[in-house]
Amino acid sequence: MDILDLIKKRRSIRRYTAEPITHEEMEKILEAGAYAPNAGGGQRSMLVGICDAGLTRQLGRLNFLPFDRSKLLGAHVSAEQPSVIDDPTITDGFYGAPAVVAVFGQADFPFSVADAFCAAENMVLMAAEMGLSSCIISRAEETFVTPEGQQLLKTWQVPADYICRVFVILGHIDGSCPQAKPRKPGRTLIVA
Ligand SMILES: Cc1cc2nc3c(=O)[nH]c(=O)nc-3n(C[C@H](O)[C@H](O)[C@H](O)COP(=O)(O)O)c2cc1C
Repeated sequence: MDILDLIKKRRSIRRYTAEPITHEEMEKILEAGAYAPNAGGGQRSMLVGICDAGLTRQLGRLNFLPFDRSKLLGAHVSAEQPSVIDDPTITDGFYGAPAVVAVFGQADFPFSVADAFCAAENMVLMAAEMGLSSCIISRAEETFVTPEGQQLLKTWQVPADYICRVFVILGHIDGSCPQAKPRKPGRTLIVA
């Protein structure tokens, strides 16, 4: 598919079937993430793929814990694919997705957030190309603050100076894919 068509086709999906992501699919998505542009060419980000639906559900619950409804700015995210902002009954920050990638970055590296989101973008586009659905999820560092979260980091042997920067949830859409919102005019210009 033409890359611009793919970019326009990808949507953030928050309704998933129980169908798992295979290890082969996860490997391809991680490879796409690993080939993202990265500051100084240092390849510092660490990408942890999880295909186990139970562990993904556990992380989704930990991800939701720090969500603070009282700090919302009143923004509406999506009527067709409601987020935790839109629907107060959602208590899984990963929306029942069966798989996730956690992207970690070096705590003291100033571009670790930017690196992580470049990897995330590559992965969501890869997923779209493979006919899979995805969504970028924040509250990454906060997901691991509890003893339960800290234990997971130990189990995965994440270096002590690494912080989770972003998640990409993955799965198969339940229902139909929404259209992109129209782009706000005046955001792009060619000045010369
Ligand atoms: C930096 C960033 C953080 C995001 N965090 C979340 C999140 O925590 N939960 C969520 O449901 N969606 C999250 N999203 C997805 C956005 O809500 C989504 O990209 C936006 O509504 C536009 O929809 P689209 O991706 O379908 O075009 C995030 C996206 C970005 C770029």
